Amino acid sequence: MGDRKSNIVETRQLEMIYRMGKIGVHALRGVDLVVHEGEFVAIMGPSGCGKSTLLHIIGGLLTPTRGQVFVDGHELTAMSDAERTDLRRRKIGFVFQRFNLFPTLTVEGNLRLAERIYSNGGRDEVGDPAREREILRLLRLEDKINHKPTELSGGEQQRVAIARAVINRPAILLADEPTGNLDSENAEIVLRMMKDLNEHFGQTIIMITHNPEAASMANRILKMRDGRIIS
Ligand SMILES: Nc1ncnc2c1ncn2[C@@H]1O[C@H](COP(=O)(O)OP(=O)(O)OP(=O)(O)O)[C@@H](O)[C@H]1O
Ligand SMILES: [Mg+2]
Repeated sequence: MGDRKSNIVETRQLEMIYRMGKIGVHALRGVDLVVHEGEFVAIMGPSGCGKSTLLHIIGGLLTPTRGQVFVDGHELTAMSDAERTDLRRRKIGFVFQRFNLFPTLTVEGNLRLAERIYSNGGRDEVGDPAREREILRLLRLEDKINHKPTELSGGEQQRVAIARAVINRPAILLADEPTGNLDSENAEIVLRMMKDLNEHFGQTIIMITHNPEAASMANRILKMRDGRIIS
């Protein structure tokens, strides 16, 4: 297994069966995965093969039927709900396929909210202004800070979602088809930004994608099929 600490994510014999009345949908059938600190990993595979299920389990949003998950050396699968929520806030940034910005808040408001949630509602902590500026610069959003989501392009919105996901220095950034809703030009900008975050900040990234060009940004491509990693 190697050094558990440099393994930012590790899963062992992960199984997921969704119960639907009498029927069980076997979404994961024994997934062993190790992701090292600083890696940019892409996950590919046909629709329904279990990619989102795997990402949601790693992100602590879903409890597996069997198996273990370790995040940054902590066993997620041995935690109480409260402990898991806390670890999720501290260690994980999530970017979903569809935008999930708060529509009534500006770019700055969305970032502040993420910082507030991270500090558990603490009012004294105002985040890290230097990091905020650096991230906004990297994502080319400096002059959009007072815009609301409806005043941004799709690509810009997705860049804000990425900024918000990484603002609190998560150990891992999990992205479920972050370019799925974007045209090729915006997709390319978003991918370049993710690559920059990985190279500049050593941000560990696990990204699901259907797009081979997007996957080529990663250091490693995992292929899934039928609830398993096949290569
Ligand atoms: N909440 C749920 N209840 C029951 N079955 C589910 C649920 N979520 C997913 N599934 C099933 O589990 C399997 C894996 O779904 P998952 O969403 O992980 O696939 P995916 O690889 O992300 O697919 P896509 O590329 O279409 O997003 C599918 O057969 C799906 O129908
Ligand atoms: Mg999916």
